[in-house]
Amino acid sequence: MTSTKVRKAIFPAAGFGTRFLPATKSIPKEMLALVDKPIIQYGVEEALAAGCDQIVIVTGRGKSAIEDYFDISYELECTLEKRGKLDLLAVSRQVSQMVRLSYVRQKEALGLGHAVLMARDLVGDEPFAVILPDDVIDAPTPCLRQMVDAFDQTHSSILATQIIEGPAISSYGVLDGKADPSNPRLFNVSDLVEKPQPGDAPSNHAIIGRYILTPAIFDVLERTPLGAGGELQLTDGIRGLLATEKVCGFSFEGTRYDAGDKLGMLKATVDFALKRDDLGPQLRAYLKSLKL
Ligand code: UTP
Repeated sequence: MTSTKVRKAIFPAAGFGTRFLPATKSIPKEMLALVDKPIIQYGVEEALAAGCDQIVIVTGRGKSAIEDYFDISYELECTLEKRGKLDLLAVSRQVSQMVRLSYVRQKEALGLGHAVLMARDLVGDEPFAVILPDDVIDAPTPCLRQMVDAFDQTHSSILATQIIEGPAISSYGVLDGKADPSNPRLFNVSDLVEKPQPGDAPSNHAIIGRYILTPAIFDVLERTPLGAGGELQLTDGIRGLLATEKVCGFSFEGTRYDAGDKLGMLKATVDFALKRDDLGPQLRAYLKSLKL
């Protein structure tokens, strides 16, 4: 490996977002607003807080709003300047100045593993993070920062996990393995199962949308056959990686919201808005006034 530091974060954003139709007919799911910021921005800020300084977004057709968002908005900024709205000008500029971004195109949505593979040339031979932008995580220490700290100790691929009870486990990739005696948040993975039947899940440790992967995953993905749904599954690639490398689960501290799902987005909106000084008190009073 040319570097052992996690400097690059990949954001797969080329999916169709069917769970959020009809809005996602013309708005990329990653651009849906959580309070007043697109959900992808929460992930980008998390990557920066974890020390990543190169962001790679995997896009596809209909996703140009993401590129426009992180670019300079010349007309808007001139207008705000002329009107003396300097606070709003600063808000707009802060987004375009936030980070160095690269884009790579996934021509067909052939799965998460395929999306990650599209970023191979931009990542090269070093460990990297993958952030699924629709998983928004509220945590005292940003989730990816917690994972980078664990990676600095183990130097092995790390998958963020959450305990999922009951039949909902069937919507996730699930880990088999044993708790690591040296760190209560780590889990030594012996196998992975994508979307098991409820009775067949090997544990209740479900993989969520944060990964740190070693570059060996790229060769494995190149030779992984298409899996469930005719897609190249990242989980299948990670299972292949297990043949040659250690892989760890990581039980992060924090709350995850599936903002790619309507109910998940509603819950995130309420919780994030309640924490804001400018919105929280009024929203709390409104919620209390509802006769539920
Ligand atoms: P999801 O399965 O949550 O996204 O993939 P989706 O397919 O867009 O959503 P639904 O299930 O139809 O509502 C997680 C992330 O991986 C990206 C998606 O854009 C999303 O951010 N993805 C998925 C790709 O970039 N390419 C793919 O082929 C599949």
